[in-house]
Amino acid sequence: MKIIGTGSAVPTMTVSNDDLSKFLDTNDAWITTRTGIKTRHLLSTEDLYDLAVDASIKAIKASGLRPDQIDFLLVSNVANRHITPGLSCIVQKRIGLSCAGLDINVACAGFVNALMLADGMMKAGRAKNILILCAEEPTKYCNWHERDCSVLFGDGAGAVVLTEGNAFKDVNLTMISDRDVLYYERGMETTPFESTYVKGQPLVMKGKELFRTAVSESAKDIQTILNRAHLTADDINWFMLHQANKRIIEGIRNIVGGPEEKYPTVIEKYGNTSSASIPIMLDEMMRDNKIHQGDKIVMSAFGAGFVSAACWWEWEF
Ligand code: ACO
Repeated sequence: MKIIGTGSAVPTMTVSNDDLSKFLDTNDAWITTRTGIKTRHLLSTEDLYDLAVDASIKAIKASGLRPDQIDFLLVSNVANRHITPGLSCIVQKRIGLSCAGLDINVACAGFVNALMLADGMMKAGRAKNILILCAEEPTKYCNWHERDCSVLFGDGAGAVVLTEGNAFKDVNLTMISDRDVLYYERGMETTPFESTYVKGQPLVMKGKELFRTAVSESAKDIQTILNRAHLTADDINWFMLHQANKRIIEGIRNIVGGPEEKYPTVIEKYGNTSSASIPIMLDEMMRDNKIHQGDKIVMSAFGAGFVSAACWWEWEF
């Protein structure tokens, strides 16, 4: 398969590190040096569904296809206002689609996991044109009274349209069952037969542990796909990594190799937008004409689970 259209959308409201330091015990210097983040966009007047629709319509428009030519909608989302129905059902009509769809939740690794599914569907002849939409609102489940998680995240959506082609080469998925490093627990109703009340709690994170696992697992995933393709870091034009923390990206680069210029970032502007981070960055790079025919591109994402995934492309337009 190959990508023939990209689109992205972020909320209109921008929040700087200085804005956060007005109500949290934090400061611009700490956030910048520890994470690379300068600003993030937070939902205010719009909602996540607006961003999801906007990013999707832009991607379809860029692809040159009509909405009725999309055969399947694959959505990656950690959480939104509705637990049911899935986000794909909520936005399908507004995007102008009538095809079936499916939601996946593999946290920040959702985009690369969705690519694996799209590749399988195309190879099985189940779909010719697929829209992948990653739409995330992590700022809606952070604890804004604590500085540990809330400074890291931003909201956003990124989408791609895929069709048949030979650009997508290989993918490697990893899962290590470890809930405690990062989780968001919802409240549970009591029943007439079981009265334990579960209140639920906003995102809980073991930052240092997550940092270490993200660096080691992402580097392993990347090395696995490079080894399978008999490639080295020198052969790769772009390493497009999940934008969780600039220091995580540097940690991965220290193991995998290659100059800093091959590891683009948008985290300084958007913070960590979970599974939307790679498609948002891809969309910006496409619009800036940074990606060329034949470019070898590695994507690697990681997050709650712990899950991680890497894939590589030889770009075709
Ligand atoms: N502002 C100011 N000071 C802070 C803040 C803050 N927001 N947070 C922590 N500190 C202080 C700590 O209290 C500590 O002070 P002390 O030395 O007096 O005890 C000091 O800064 C260092 O804290 P550490 O936790 O050691 O900071 P660290 O360098 O590990 O950075 C961070 C913390 C940014 C969370 C890092 O561990 C990290 O990036 N982890 C991964 C987080 C991540 O990727 N999350 C996304 C999850 S989903 C995904 O996309 C993978």
